[in-house]
Amino acid sequence: MKIMVVGGGGREHAIIKKIKESPLADKIYALPGNGGIAEDAECVAIGAKEIDKIVDFAVSKKIDYAIVAPDDPLVLGAVDALNEAGIPCFGPRANAAIIEGSKIFSKNLMKKYGIPTAQYEVFTEKEAALKYLEDAPIPTVIKADGLALGKGVVIAMTREEAIDAVKSMMEDKVFGDSGSKIVIEEFLTGPEVSVLSFTDGKTVVPMVSSMDHKRALDGDKGLNTGGMGTIAPNPYYTDAIADVCMREIFLPTINAMNAEGRTFKGCLYFGLMLTANGPKVIEYNCRFGDPETQVVLPLLDGDLLEIMQACTNGTLADMDVKFKSQAACCVIMASDGYPGKYSGGFEITRDTGIDGEVYVAGAKLADGKLLTAGGRVLGVVAIGDNLGKAIDKAYANVQKVHFDNAFFRKDIGQKAMAVFSEN
Ligand code: AMP
Ligand code: GLY
Repeated sequence: MKIMVVGGGGREHAIIKKIKESPLADKIYALPGNGGIAEDAECVAIGAKEIDKIVDFAVSKKIDYAIVAPDDPLVLGAVDALNEAGIPCFGPRANAAIIEGSKIFSKNLMKKYGIPTAQYEVFTEKEAALKYLEDAPIPTVIKADGLALGKGVVIAMTREEAIDAVKSMMEDKVFGDSGSKIVIEEFLTGPEVSVLSFTDGKTVVPMVSSMDHKRALDGDKGLNTGGMGTIAPNPYYTDAIADVCMREIFLPTINAMNAEGRTFKGCLYFGLMLTANGPKVIEYNCRFGDPETQVVLPLLDGDLLEIMQACTNGTLADMDVKFKSQAACCVIMASDGYPGKYSGGFEITRDTGIDGEVYVAGAKLADGKLLTAGGRVLGVVAIGDNLGKAIDKAYANVQKVHFDNAFFRKDIGQKAMAVFSEN
């Protein structure tokens, strides 16, 4: 089969490496891919949001199956356009991708179908939002309705911060149209868990759970980033909690989307918070998480391409989706300064003896050399028989990857390890 993967980050590199293991995959294209992905797929200089060009390319190359990984093309209707051109895809159509594309849609869906989430109010007028904040409980959480590169959420610890966030979204339009409508919601506390799931719109199969580390600095300090590291499985997510989530969140969400005429097929990502009052949905993503994918897929014990096709064909119930009973850790190596200003163009070298994977996110090839070209440069991943071993191996691998200006967190997985000493 000829496969096309839309996207060009570490997540896409992890998907491509897993797909390559499938005997069904003969040829893999990445649009646009990156300098590191070029080792594993043919990269084509078409951006992930250039839907018309993506469709033209897929038709001209007679692509048998497409995987659309990032949020933007999914929300923009890439799957709809490819399907209309006769190309089967992994990923939701636009009318289902809205579960990530509009926070107001997802909050209203959860309210209508009784899916546990934070209490909230929707505002389309700045004045009403500011009035509400006069006596709203603090801390509070302000969310832009639309996609905002993962930056559209402000946790306001004071009333002033909340007011500033509303003004910057609704008055200064820092997120453009994405912030012209907002959600203000209850501040929840508890451990966070990411659960990615496969679904064909009827069956939902959760993948191994994981934990992201969103802040730039050790101890969860510093600015929010796209994610500085991940571990899987997430030890806070016990079998008992998984059962509750299946009953109260996962199945109800799939059923709700069907009831709305918005059947979701693809990877549905549940961002959960385990509160004292039970698990609640913090956010849905309509796609694989980044960098969760980098720890989840190495633990998948099976043919990813077959599972994806089963999601497309509605035959997921027939698949035996298994995960290894090991643990994985991904440490993101970034350019110093990220998520603020940083410089790039430094050569990336890898020593021999790396026991794991290096998934490249921000790099380009120049004269046969791999050069840094992004904030998050790559993710170094290791698998171990338990979480502690996976973490140690991942950090040993980090010592074998070199580029000037490299920055990484030293404490990926430590919050998860604390569970073991608590018990
Ligand atoms: P997002 O950018 O949507 O992934 O959200 C960023 C982060 O904001 C989440 O991972 C949570 O840590 C935090 N967050 C979002 N909503 C809430 C909430 N209602 N209460 C507490 N923290 C939240
Ligand atoms: N790691 C969170 C996300 O992909 O949105």
